[in-house]
Amino acid sequence: MEIKDLYSTIFKRKSIRKFDLTPLEDNTLNKIQEHLKTLEPLHKDINTEFKILSPDVVKRRMMKKAPHYLAVFSEVNEGYLNNVGFMTQQMDLFFSANGLGSCWQGIPTLKKEALESSNLKFIILMPFGMPTEPIHRTSISQFKRKTLQEITDIQGADDILEAARLAPSAGNGQPWYFTGDKDIIHTYQIRPDFVRGLLTKKFPPIDVGISLHHLKLAAEHFGNETEITFDNPRIETPSNYDYVASLRLK
Ligand SMILES: Cc1cc2nc3c(=O)[nH]c(=O)nc-3n(C[C@H](O)[C@H](O)[C@H](O)COP(=O)(O)O)c2cc1C
Repeated sequence: MEIKDLYSTIFKRKSIRKFDLTPLEDNTLNKIQEHLKTLEPLHKDINTEFKILSPDVVKRRMMKKAPHYLAVFSEVNEGYLNNVGFMTQQMDLFFSANGLGSCWQGIPTLKKEALESSNLKFIILMPFGMPTEPIHRTSISQFKRKTLQEITDIQGADDILEAARLAPSAGNGQPWYFTGDKDIIHTYQIRPDFVRGLLTKKFPPIDVGISLHHLKLAAEHFGNETEITFDNPRIETPSNYDYVASLRLK
């Protein structure tokens, strides 16, 4: 396992839900543990913990079984869910680039002993293992996504925004919007309505963290230095969207 080109993986990755249940070799699991130590946070000051757990401690709630589960725990602080999305998507791309399947899963949860194994709050699971279905898409047309026009009014940065457009999201909701220009891209997340928000309000901030990571990878792929800032520009945006962060391209 190695760190392959994660940018190109954006254009072929997909959620994998069918796994060979044979546990991965220790050598592979060690490399995954090593890679977990390299994840770049969106918010450096928020504590996170990533654990590789067995299916015995997962309440799967109808989801198919996987040989391993990445469990994500976090300190609860402003932006923590964006941070979880941003960091954990680095693992989704790493798995896919190395021929392992994975899928964000917000529905399953952990049994009590696993929940209590961390001082931080349990946030989400990502099952992973050898896939028993094709691991990659072979064409962009296989992604079911909104068009660029639906998610941005920026002209002249299509290459970079395309990577954010293809990001995975809970229920494929794609709750993001990008405005600004080709030098600074402001990112927004949809405000969940009250009724749906009761059950699923943790997902849009995770989703937007995921798409921000894709955006940054693409900007760097095209030779830009990047900086993520959190100064709300207070410019006019579609109603019902909240500001999250800005990506400055240098
Ligand atoms: C935060 C989050 C939670 C998700 N929860 C589930 C889940 O519980 N079960 C599931 O089958 N898929 C889940 N998904 C996967 C999405 O359904 C999937 O990413 C989306 O439909 C886009 O498809 P793709 O990942 O194959 O591109 C989740 C995705 C995200 C980002």
